[in-house]
Amino acid sequence: MLKIAVFASGRGSNFQAIIDQIKRAKIPAEIKFLLSDQKNAGALKKAEKEGINSTFIDPAQFETELAYEKKLVSLLKEAQVELIVLAGYMRILSPFFVKKFKKQIINIHPSLLPAFKGLAAQKQAVDYGVKYSGCTVHYVDQGMDTGPIIKQAVVKVKPEDSAADLAARILKKEHQIYPEVIKLIAESKLKIEGRKVKILKEEQSLG
Ligand code: GAR
Repeated sequence: MLKIAVFASGRGSNFQAIIDQIKRAKIPAEIKFLLSDQKNAGALKKAEKEGINSTFIDPAQFETELAYEKKLVSLLKEAQVELIVLAGYMRILSPFFVKKFKKQIINIHPSLLPAFKGLAAQKQAVDYGVKYSGCTVHYVDQGMDTGPIIKQAVVKVKPEDSAADLAARILKKEHQIYPEVIKLIAESKLKIEGRKVKILKEEQSLG
């Protein structure tokens, strides 16, 4: 069983989709805990409802970001976590943290990277006037939204879309591809060669 920790700052719909698909699609993975940096994150309530260990760690209680991250590292090591899943975790992990978990951190971003990195990616896409956008699951490296791409899904952008309309359309795809990627990792079906991530056996959509 792949030991996972999920980091989330917000409502936690991706976290919920991952929980649901681990059960439904029998993904050989176990969520050791959910971590949030936001006291009122919806994700914390979802964890409680699902009986999953959860921790709110307030970064403001630490003198430095490094001290905060050292606390996270000790929790992760203690739980022997093998994969860190960022699901709407709105902090940038420092090189210190990323080096500790090389190729063991994945993120989902609501755009077709490398377009529209950073915050409010859906609004950036609408404002730019692109005809297609989507979401990307990628390994986390020391840059912002720059790590090797594992999987992407595409959605159409309509001329009348607001950022919220597009975000909702993309979110549905996020809920599909994030659990699919976790399944691939749990089944050791990914191979990383530089920036290229190969799927060793053709993946099946979880539907
Ligand atoms: C998702 O759309 C995710 O892609 C995005 O935050 C949302 C979290 O929603 N992440 C980022 O923008 C990271 N840069 P959720 O809390 O319902 O899963």
